[in-house]
Amino acid sequence: MSGSLAVVGCRQLVTLRGPARPRTAGAMRDLGILEDGALLVRGGRIAAVGHYTDLKNHLAPGTEVIDAAGGVVLPGFVDAHTHLVFAANRAGEFEQRIEGATYQEIAEAGGGIRSTVRRTSQAADEELLDAARRHARWFLANGTTTLEAKSGYGLETEAECRLLRVMRQLAREGPLEIVPTFLGAHEIPDGMKREEYVETVIAEMLPRVAAERLAEYCDVFCEPHIFPVPVARRILQAAHAVGLGLRLHADQLSLSGGAKLAAELKAATADHLEHADAESLDALAAAGVQPVLLPGSVYSLGLRRYPDARAMIARGLAVVLATDFNPGSSPTASMPMVLSLACTQMRVTPAEALTAATINAAYSLGRGAEIGSLEPGKRADFVLYDCADYREIPYYFGVNLAKSVWIRGVYCAAAI
Ligand code: NIG
Ligand code: FE
Repeated sequence: MSGSLAVVGCRQLVTLRGPARPRTAGAMRDLGILEDGALLVRGGRIAAVGHYTDLKNHLAPGTEVIDAAGGVVLPGFVDAHTHLVFAANRAGEFEQRIEGATYQEIAEAGGGIRSTVRRTSQAADEELLDAARRHARWFLANGTTTLEAKSGYGLETEAECRLLRVMRQLAREGPLEIVPTFLGAHEIPDGMKREEYVETVIAEMLPRVAAERLAEYCDVFCEPHIFPVPVARRILQAAHAVGLGLRLHADQLSLSGGAKLAAELKAATADHLEHADAESLDALAAAGVQPVLLPGSVYSLGLRRYPDARAMIARGLAVVLATDFNPGSSPTASMPMVLSLACTQMRVTPAEALTAATINAAYSLGRGAEIGSLEPGKRADFVLYDCADYREIPYYFGVNLAKSVWIRGVYCAAAI
């Protein structure tokens, strides 16, 4: 919580204000920009947005005035797909892929997700927490103020719960808000048969996660060789039955029917979708499922096939962009880099990309009324950028223009 704050002198105050629903089609280009805008914050919430001349008579005595000095102010990014908590990294596999090995070959040879699972099991709680704190600072420094985080590097009941508890601890420490997702069905652990593991996920893990209220959502890595559609369906139905919302890694490496399953189950999101076909996109549109696109993983795996964002926007899907931060396929915490990839590789306009990374992402996490835009009553999560036009953010790729970050109206020193 904070006292009263006025941010003045914003060359562009990008509000994203608009109807209280995810933005689709042409509305994704409407950013509600106030030129020479000002923002009033009271008690950690946005009290008003407008032009300074109109707002200055409403300033309570003692209001702290912050001069944006002609910069751009945006709502904090909402990163709706990350794998935040794990030990070690996989830079060695990065080099192996450059030398010609594929992601799947590395996984089949015992690397990939399972190697991170082994390293994670050897790490003490405090080590995991320290690594997650370090990564959380990266997110913050790049303008992210809320993130979804998945378990999935435990693959055993207590180990999965431990990852979710690390997230809970990190969320308590603040300032980032963390939305936890249970992804026990991320891979099949060493030495176990799929059926046996799926039983453990359904009969043991899900009830524990629900009883301890460790997650809001459940996700499954739906691929034919890992968790094919019928198996993913069983797990997600069980998750729904214990009160979890649904997300799904769908049609990432092959067209396996994941998007159609997400539509059938009316999941909140279908994520990845590099291989989704027109029929799958129609099903998502009919069911109102939000696609979460993760171009960082396509880029980092050195692949060519990005999801067809234009076809999705044309169908009226409320597209979301996220980092997919993880040690294997997408080691980036940078939403600005993801926006840049979306623009150059998927022909998403800078305005559409910003909408996808803020208000649409907020709705995909059930938080559309609370975050994702700068409107009176919402949480004062915002970021000041060292540029005069929001398009500079994806344009200067690999450059971090975020200058300072506020969450709940409190300045986050960690971002500097
Ligand atoms: O979203 N595909 C599954 N999960 C991650 C990769 C995780 C890993 O390689 O550690 C993804 O790309
Ligand atoms: Fe992922």
